[in-house]
Amino acid sequence: MTSVLPHLRLGVNIDHIATIRQQRHTVYPDLAEAVRLIEAAGADIITLHLREDRRHIQDADVYGLHSVIKTAMNLEMASTAEMHAIALEIRPRACCLVPERRQELTTEGGLDVLTHEARLRDYCAGLIEAGIEVSLFVEPDPAHLDAARRIGAPVVELHTGAYASEADPARREALLDRIRQAAAHGQDIGLTVNAGHGLDYHNVGAVAAIPQLHELNIGHAIIAQALFCGIREAVAQMRAAMDAGRTCS
Ligand code: PXP
Repeated sequence: MTSVLPHLRLGVNIDHIATIRQQRHTVYPDLAEAVRLIEAAGADIITLHLREDRRHIQDADVYGLHSVIKTAMNLEMASTAEMHAIALEIRPRACCLVPERRQELTTEGGLDVLTHEARLRDYCAGLIEAGIEVSLFVEPDPAHLDAARRIGAPVVELHTGAYASEADPARREALLDRIRQAAAHGQDIGLTVNAGHGLDYHNVGAVAAIPQLHELNIGHAIIAQALFCGIREAVAQMRAAMDAGRTCS
């Protein structure tokens, strides 16, 4: 018997379109045009990460795209005072809090919610009060999900990076199982559970099949694929790969 699970939202991360622009400090590629094409291709959310070092997305992008995005903006940011002020000014639909280190190539792990529980509680409270949907980017570890629940964050995004980069099939399956269990636990305790990081056209199906997931945030693989077929087609192909994984038999 074939069953179709509820719609899984696709958040497209546009950071690496900005990376290409920032490498030469040009005005192209135009992020607003990219957003229009990505939305036309069926994305549900536009995700962008304003990093402390401004290596890709710039402040002007966040302010400018706010009126361009027709779906919803998901602003990824570190839990700093500077980012808190920007988020309160912009009021994106959602904010995803991530850990950030200057030397890292990309976000390399989940937030340590346990260690920073008290500080994150206060930090999230201001954003939630402003009507922003706050999400915490965490490892698929029940203890961090429990802490997210305690501090009142309504959403978590499970870090799929370890699963995505694992080459050994047995270890990969074990990491996928951790994600499955964390997603089930998150739903049980009343959290909305998203996932993302390192997902590509080959590894996304197994994650999309996890019934408790609401949204996947995917960037690098889509932007890389767009080099060969254009951004609209690259998003459509990812949507199709997610839908195929979501339809389980
Ligand atoms: N989710 C979060 C919280 C991230 O930090 C990133 C990378 O910016 C992504 C998802 C997307 O990761 P990728 O570019 O590997 O698809």
